[in-house]
Amino acid sequence: MAEDICFFNKDTLIIKPSKKSPVLLRMIVLVFAMICGLYICSICVKQINTRAKTKFINIEVIERNCHDYGIDQSQIPSLHYPRPETFSRSECTCSPVRFFAILSMQRSGSGWFETLLNSHVNVSSNGEIFSVKDRRDNISEIVKTLDRVYNLDWFSSASKNECLAAVGFKWMLNQGLMEHHTEIVKYFNSRGVSVIFLFRRNLLRRMVSMLGNSYDRYAKLLNGTHKSHVHSQEEADTLSKYKPTINSTSLMSDLKQMELTVAKALAYFSSSRHIILFYEDLIKNRTKLVDVQEFLGLPQMDLTSRQVKIHNGPLSEHIKNWEDVNKTLRGTTYESFLLSDY
Ligand SMILES: *[C@@H]1O[C@H](CO)[C@@H](O)[C@H](O)[C@H]1NC(C)=O
Ligand SMILES: *[C@@H]1O[C@H](CO)[C@@H](O)[C@H](O)[C@H]1NC(C)=O
Ligand SMILES: *[C@@H]1O[C@H](CO)[C@@H](O)[C@H](O)[C@H]1NC(C)=O
Ligand SMILES: *[C@@H]1O[C@H](CO)[C@@H](O)[C@H](O)[C@H]1NC(C)=O
Ligand SMILES: *[C@@H]1O[C@H](CO)[C@@H](O)[C@H](O)[C@H]1NC(C)=O
Ligand SMILES: *[C@@H]1O[C@H](CO)[C@@H](O)[C@H](O)[C@H]1NC(C)=O
Repeated sequence: MAEDICFFNKDTLIIKPSKKSPVLLRMIVLVFAMICGLYICSICVKQINTRAKTKFINIEVIERNCHDYGIDQSQIPSLHYPRPETFSRSECTCSPVRFFAILSMQRSGSGWFETLLNSHVNVSSNGEIFSVKDRRDNISEIVKTLDRVYNLDWFSSASKNECLAAVGFKWMLNQGLMEHHTEIVKYFNSRGVSVIFLFRRNLLRRMVSMLGNSYDRYAKLLNGTHKSHVHSQEEADTLSKYKPTINSTSLMSDLKQMELTVAKALAYFSSSRHIILFYEDLIKNRTKLVDVQEFLGLPQMDLTSRQVKIHNGPLSEHIKNWEDVNKTLRGTTYESFLLSDY
């Protein structure tokens, strides 16, 4: 634009011929045009310079901060610096994030465990995202969903601010995980996803919990609402009043089947960076939560949950055909399930 103005001035000046000294006037125009040109050039050069400089500084800052000099080198493949599309991580752009997946089975304490994790200010565990069938129809849908979660673009009630240090979700073995295990383990290993296995030792108690939960799905014992997890002893007592009958004919093979599924999951996914947790250990030993936070590279915090355990006390009080069950399991490898507290 400045250039146009210069030419414009020149033209108008030329058009207006001066009788006195055209040479002098032409010189003035020429000098004016030159000054104009120089001015424009100097502005352009200045702008290019500042732009290049800021870019250079930005790159330097990101690279410097996003390098993990203080961190154990073996940990680096599991550290990430996601750039979400939906928001900016602002001051935490360069603080590392770890990706995790809790691999578990229904009624194994994973809901409770997740509330514990989410009580940490730097953790987002986004729940059972693959309970929705569309998201696990095929491996490309699964990968698309995983990419969104790990890019921090997944929104759930557990989503945290930009300063989170670990992001994940829980994935039940029967939610496409076992069918697509080859591709999923490849994804986990290439993207550095850490696996938290969470299982329950006492599979008989798990069975009681499953039967109770599926009964409540239609009985809706709590004021007409189905609840899988409760927050008060009163609610727990109401739910545990229902005593399921266990099919003692298929009991042994059912327990074996569950054991086999767990063993398979361990075989499929233990090439990933992983930790194995048992619900019973988490209940008895709070130090396990320190291990988990260490595994996820988190600053140690006291983790809390408002959830209350539903089935307390001896199992004999929670199974209708206890005599049958007792007889079926006595003398087998599963005998200990009859006695243990959790
Ligand atoms: C996967 O499933 C989605 C939706 O269910 C479908 O649109 C897509 O074509 C499928 N992709 C493949 C590779 O089968
Ligand atoms: C954890 O979150 C807090 C609060 O948002 C933040 O100040 C801190 O830097 C985060 N820590 C890590 C390790 O990301
Ligand atoms: C059912 O609702 C009543 C009235 O709102 C409340 O007092 C009671 O505690 C509820 N019971 C349960 C089991 O939630
Ligand atoms: C118990 O399991 C056996 C063997 O799987 C089956 O044939 C039978 O129908 C089951 N009984 C009930 C009441 O479900
Ligand atoms: C509790 O867990 C910690 C960490 O896993 C372990 O070192 C300790 O031996 C456990 N304590 C008991 C009593 O099992
Ligand atoms: C199982 O049955 C045996 C024999 O009747 C009895 O001695 C034992 O106490 C029972 N076990 C439990 C845990 O109820």
